[in-house]
Amino acid sequence: MIASTLATVATLLACTITTSAHVALIPNEAEMGSNFNLGFKLPHGGEEAGTVAFTVTLPEGTYSVKPRPVYGFSVSRTLRELVPDVEVYGSMVNETVDTITWTAVYGYEVPTWAVEVFEIYLTLPANQTGTMPFPAVQTLSDGDVYEWITGNSTMGPYNGTAEAVVVDEHAGHRRRREVETAPVLTVVAPTTAA
Ligand SMILES: *[C@@H]1O[C@H](CO)[C@@H](O)[C@H](O)[C@H]1NC(C)=O
Ligand SMILES: *[C@@H]1O[C@H](CO)[C@@H](O)[C@H](O)[C@H]1NC(C)=O
Ligand SMILES: *[C@@H]1O[C@H](CO)[C@@H](O)[C@H](O)[C@H]1NC(C)=O
Ligand SMILES: *[C@@H]1O[C@H](CO)[C@@H](O)[C@H](O)[C@H]1NC(C)=O
Repeated sequence: MIASTLATVATLLACTITTSAHVALIPNEAEMGSNFNLGFKLPHGGEEAGTVAFTVTLPEGTYSVKPRPVYGFSVSRTLRELVPDVEVYGSMVNETVDTITWTAVYGYEVPTWAVEVFEIYLTLPANQTGTMPFPAVQTLSDGDVYEWITGNSTMGPYNGTAEAVVVDEHAGHRRRREVETAPVLTVVAPTTAA
């Protein structure tokens, strides 16, 4: 009993340490064709500065994307054209969201001792499973920039290194830039009810 409790505590600690080093997706697995909220939980692993901007680049195969406003931040988006049009739940769509950026309004930041989850609502393709990196860029108030951007998608038609569009050059300068692997969503087939 005590041994298993200790093992559980050890497992929890191990998880806390690994996930705190990266942007975590909540959830990190979804069923194909689903509409759901995807959260990006930001790390503050021993940083001295809070978060003042966060940008997500939407991978191929994400549709009907809507960001959730976050307290203290303005939110903006850019669109990209779909060629050819794509059928999403019976409607043909010709454009989709390319990037979403949350930018702190003057003087605001997510402090290092706080947690913030940036959320988007999106639709996945009905007939595809695979892995989908969501390149993300986090900017801190001291000018440090974390680019969580590398990784490959296995979802057609996109195949290749996830390319992030870096749109936040907060305060006009970068102090330090770190490039890390992008958080990855695993898209699975629906589990059929028995
Ligand atoms: C998509 O279609 C709408 C409505 O026809 C049009 O206003 C918009 O400009 C089109 N977008 C692109 C990227 O072509
Ligand atoms: C998904 O696959 C089914 C069966 O093959 C097909 O009827 C349907 O059109 C496909 N849906 C999309 C969005 O491609
Ligand atoms: C992504 O694919 C490229 C080209 O195949 C490869 O060089 C690179 O190592 C891959 N990256 C990851 C993180 O798997
Ligand atoms: C993408 O790459 C994966 C892994 O190499 C491959 O299985 C898949 O068929 C590719 N998809 C497309 C659309 O090329």
